Amino acid sequence: MSLPHTVPSWAMLAYLAAGVLFILALRGLSSPASSRRGNRFGMAGMLIAVVTTLAIHDLASIGEILAAMVIGGLVGILVARRIAMTAMPQLVAAFHSLVGLAAVLVAAAAYLAPEGFGIVGADGLILPASRIEMGLGVAIGAITLSGSIIAFLKLNGNLSGAPILLPARHAINLLILAAILGLTVWFVFDQSPWVFWTVTALSILIGFLLIIPIGGADMPVVVSMLNSYSGWAAAAMGFTLHNVAMVITGALVGSSGAILSYIMCRAMNRSFFGVIAGGFGAAAADAGAGAKTDRPWKRGSAEDAAFILKEAQQVIVIPGYGMAVAQAQHVVREMADKLKEHGVRVKYAIHPVAGRMPGHMNVLLAEAQVPYDEVFELEDINGEFAQTDVAFVIGANDVVNPAARTDRTSPIYGMPVFDVQKAKTVLFVKRSMGGVGYAGVDNEVFYLDQTIMLLADAKKMVEEIVKAL
Ligand code: TAP
Repeated sequence: MSLPHTVPSWAMLAYLAAGVLFILALRGLSSPASSRRGNRFGMAGMLIAVVTTLAIHDLASIGEILAAMVIGGLVGILVARRIAMTAMPQLVAAFHSLVGLAAVLVAAAAYLAPEGFGIVGADGLILPASRIEMGLGVAIGAITLSGSIIAFLKLNGNLSGAPILLPARHAINLLILAAILGLTVWFVFDQSPWVFWTVTALSILIGFLLIIPIGGADMPVVVSMLNSYSGWAAAAMGFTLHNVAMVITGALVGSSGAILSYIMCRAMNRSFFGVIAGGFGAAAADAGAGAKTDRPWKRGSAEDAAFILKEAQQVIVIPGYGMAVAQAQHVVREMADKLKEHGVRVKYAIHPVAGRMPGHMNVLLAEAQVPYDEVFELEDINGEFAQTDVAFVIGANDVVNPAARTDRTSPIYGMPVFDVQKAKTVLFVKRSMGGVGYAGVDNEVFYLDQTIMLLADAKKMVEEIVKAL
């Protein structure tokens, strides 16, 4: 087996075309309306990149390649069909661990058989530039591998979501990181096996240590950060494999993952370095005393809700994690259709961190075929609550909690939230008064004069409202 050391110009052109398609894919994915087209661009780009790579490499027989693709494709289809939308974050974490593993394996293969990769210099040693790529690839790949495994275990409930705080963890982590950096530089001058394998082992260790102290609430940011790492690992290995498409794709994944992490941190009012340093979640868990149900509050029925909704001029629906769990998006759209028949204007307000993953609510509403022009982002709709008759909160909690503005001690303090309390009536769908949101804190909105609690499973409650309408 060997890799071509010079790439034919037609292949370079094909890689360039694949790169352009990947950029168009990202562009398409930036809006729900164009996301399907974006996905198609991405699939076309990947097809071109894979076919080109297979055409110019003498890696394996066509039969072997086809067998591998069929097995991989079948596993992919099976997993994609069976996975619940709420389990998407752990699936993504599992996929990232495979990217990390692939980077480690490619680096190890290049280290053990450098001749096959065309990276041996006249002195018989691995070229210094390739050693830099290899060192970076194996270090970032190994961190991605072990970090993603911990993220998967935490998100999947196999490991406690609470932060696991080791004593002196910052000092230990800094020491290990310094050792990895030092040894990666050392590797450029000395290609002894102990240097390569020590970098690999320390990077696997630091991946575990970096992710273990991070609490469940910050885990989606971590998954997106690991996504970014996996991109950089792939880009580094693209150089070793002389694969331009891999360098471009890796850089795109690396930078878009980093930007997404930053946006999520901003939406949750968390500092990026605070998340990486870990430990968030312990305070939130302590603050999670739950709802104080001894305060007066009003309970309503589906019929009450239907009556109020029918009389309204404008209703804003604020969906959250509970709507995803209950899979109530289709019946919510049915309710909106009925209301529109009564002349009511219906809008949807989407918070950037509603649910448990970026774009969670957009995906659900798109699945239920809610028209895109009825869906609004936080900053575009928050000013409208004062002129709104009904704020219909369904399975959301933290994203409508005014404590984020008023209570400095709250774990969500500083997070931008919807001003639902400004609406004439708030209809609040959740299962019980005791159930709290992700941050584990009570919500003043439950006890407001204009709030009516609709306590039931989201799907059941909305089905009954539709019947009553
Ligand atoms: P949450 O604050 O988590 O509230 C969910 C609400 O849904 C709870 O009040 C719960 O109350 C209710 N619920 C659960 N199952 C239900 C069902 N079957 N039927 C009806 N109600 C149900 O949700 P949110 O407002 O969407 O906020 C998201 C939170 O997750 C934020 O704190 C955010 O920072 C965090 N987070 C989000 C992300 C991303 S990227 N989206 C990433 C990390 C963290 P009951 O138990 O009483 O029903």
